[in-house]
Amino acid sequence: MRIGRSITPGIHARVVVLTADDAFEESVRAIFGASAQIGLDVIKGKLSQRDQVDVEGVAVVVADVDAGDQAELHALERIIARIGNWPPVVAVTQSFDTGMARRLMQMRVADFLVKPVSPVELVQTCARVAKAPAGSEATEAQIFTFLPAVGGAGVTTLAVQTAMLLLNSGARQKAATCLVDLDFQHGACADYLDIEPRLNLGEIEPRPERLDRQLLEVMLSHHASGLAVVATPNRPAEMRSFDPDVVTRLLDLVSTYFDFVVFDMPRTWFSWTDSVLLGSNKLFIVSEATVPGLRHAKQLVEAIRERLGEGPKPQVIINRFEQKLFSPGLRRADIEQAIGDTFAACVPNNYSLVREAIDRGVPLDEVKPGNKITTQLKRLVLPSGAAKPGKEIAGTGKKLRLSPARS
Ligand SMILES: Nc1ncnc2c1ncn2[C@@H]1O[C@H](COP(=O)(O)OP(=O)(O)O)[C@@H](O)[C@H]1O
Ligand SMILES: [Mg+2]
Repeated sequence: MRIGRSITPGIHARVVVLTADDAFEESVRAIFGASAQIGLDVIKGKLSQRDQVDVEGVAVVVADVDAGDQAELHALERIIARIGNWPPVVAVTQSFDTGMARRLMQMRVADFLVKPVSPVELVQTCARVAKAPAGSEATEAQIFTFLPAVGGAGVTTLAVQTAMLLLNSGARQKAATCLVDLDFQHGACADYLDIEPRLNLGEIEPRPERLDRQLLEVMLSHHASGLAVVATPNRPAEMRSFDPDVVTRLLDLVSTYFDFVVFDMPRTWFSWTDSVLLGSNKLFIVSEATVPGLRHAKQLVEAIRERLGEGPKPQVIINRFEQKLFSPGLRRADIEQAIGDTFAACVPNNYSLVREAIDRGVPLDEVKPGNKITTQLKRLVLPSGAAKPGKEIAGTGKKLRLSPARS
């Protein structure tokens, strides 16, 4: 989040403290309350009673968490996932052990302190984490887009799994990742993850300028894994397209606040489709191993090239691929030859695995660790070194442009 990044010592800064502990509240009021430069908001009560925190213009969030209470830890995880990249969160705990430290790090806390916290320690820690690391302003989201060549090829399945892989691609902590379901009419991301869709485009449309970080937060859904999801409730009988300005504003906002963004695209070409494709770092066309499937994939590659030039480089994934000896059907070599240099990979067919994951609302790896679908996807979406421990994907992303391409 950019808001608050410009805050430097000596200039007014807001600190939010979440605590249920009277003594801790008293001490932070004594520490920060006296300063003319710092605005302090103490939010009293358990973390689990709180769904989200208003972080507009906030430099640091200090979260006092009862580490012995699982519900409180879960609540902190949820709050941090909602806050995203900025502002940083400092956790304060009563007790401490290495398991707890690990857990807090995985949640992406900026630092943690153990009670009793001295005033100097708290002020120094907040000042340090409130300074954005050098170059962080330039770090932009990496965007992965999945586009269908035929109906039911598995775009949603592959988009959901890719988002999960990216979320867990950091060596030490989860990467801020958002899955955006742009299939407004037949979206299935929220169903596949068993979460409630919360995006209401109709509400934003009359006044797109209202769409800011805060409103985005209200319209995000959160999966237990920490994955953020933007999805609208399905209205199968409704035939409507949304103002491209609203859609592009939404996409721009999402790509500002997350490290990774994954788009699940509809088959229909809308006026905002060009902008999404042009802004993507990786663009996957998903098809199936049939003659029409290959033909459609090739036609789509060609159409993208004609429309958008050499900018977005589509790569074709043939999903639900099955190679049985002596059986009819297309072989991998046939597919490679037919598709040519835009061929990326064949993803194996495993219906029972995919169905179980969808029915339980969990990633494939949770149903069957090391399964072939995830392994293949990892090769496609994670750079070769990133799967090794100790390495993280470098944020070399290019930013999604806001300019709506009308057609
Ligand atoms: N690799 C796969 N192996 C087996 N079944 C799959 C695979 N990928 C997707 N499916 C199944 O195919 C169907 C369509 O998948 P979905 O992701 O909803 O496609 P789309 O979003 O392209 O319409 C679903 O029933 C899903 O379970
Ligand atoms: Mg779909």
